Amino acid sequence: MPEKAKKIAIIGAGLVGAGWAIVFARAGHRVKIYDASETLRQGLRQHLDEALAALQRHGLIAEAPMVISARMLITDHLQHAVADADYVQESVFEQLALKKSIAMEISQAMPPHAIVGSSTSGFSGSSFMAEVTRRAQFLVVHPVNPPHIIPVVEIVPTPWTDTQIVPEIRKFMVQIGQVPVVLNKEIDGFILNRLQGALLDEAWKLFSEGYASAADIDATVAQGLGLRWAFMGPFETIDLNAPLGIDDYARRLGGMYQRLASLRHAAVEWPKEAIDRATAECRAAHPVETLTTRRQWRDERLMALIAHKKQQV
Ligand SMILES: NC(=O)c1ccc[n+]([C@@H]2O[C@H](COP(=O)([O-])OP(=O)(O)OC[C@H]3O[C@@H](n4cnc5c(N)ncnc54)[C@H](O)[C@@H]3O)[C@@H](O)[C@H]2O)c1
Repeated sequence: MPEKAKKIAIIGAGLVGAGWAIVFARAGHRVKIYDASETLRQGLRQHLDEALAALQRHGLIAEAPMVISARMLITDHLQHAVADADYVQESVFEQLALKKSIAMEISQAMPPHAIVGSSTSGFSGSSFMAEVTRRAQFLVVHPVNPPHIIPVVEIVPTPWTDTQIVPEIRKFMVQIGQVPVVLNKEIDGFILNRLQGALLDEAWKLFSEGYASAADIDATVAQGLGLRWAFMGPFETIDLNAPLGIDDYARRLGGMYQRLASLRHAAVEWPKEAIDRATAECRAAHPVETLTTRRQWRDERLMALIAHKKQQV
């Protein structure tokens, strides 16, 4: 448990905000949660308690779910959540006008020392934080869904973010059990979605040109590349894949990758025909009404994997 519990405000408690609330509460911090939807607020406690019970089944929380749940308070007002917060995590809908207005609202309601992280996946912080009163205390803190299971968090300062804040948030993320990745400057898609986007573009190209089925392309990742990726990234992968390490790999196979890169088309839209075919293949494997169950299966498998990784050095 932390020496001193921080006061956290969660603004927006959908898929990502609810996961964030658990991340902070299980690390011992006091969490006030505000979401604009009354319906969501009414069902939120049950949702949080079910997620905590699932974490407990996988041995991923050190305390009883009810102890962690008791640190989370659901409130009907943004001002109440934010007024005494040390740190605010904003996770409202991905709409630029809304991100701008909510940043403004938070900055007006928060104490002078608070730091605000936005979960935005698609906007640069500078596109909606520029006019905020205390913009030096705002930055992007981008999680992966669901944040209470997948630990990586991208920390992206705007040009105005106080340089002291980045190492402070990095340290805080480590303390609460997340794995921070710091970007030195803003770039569209940050790191995770740029890497994912490159792989997706190639997958769509292979699929739309008829080289393999969607299921076989998926198997290449799930039963091939992805097995290593649960433990190491692309650089360490190639460092281990040549007798003398990464420079040896670059000497042996660099030419092949350059040739492949030179054959690649410039960016193209994912073809409608290919999307329709992939949809038919995916829906034949998992009808749309089974996707919620399939997502639960994914989260169960992820929790088992995280529990396994926690036993590794
Ligand atoms: N879903 C993902 O895979 C994922 C991953 C990383 C980051 N994100 C980012 O996290 C943010 C939230 O995404 P999500 O998937 O949780 O969306 P979501 O639709 O599940 O949740 C958004 C929530 O914000 C609430 N909201 C809307 N306006 C509000 C306001 N004015 N005040 C308070 N609450 C308000 C909504 O009621 C809703 O519950 C987005 O910026 C998104 O880009 C999403």
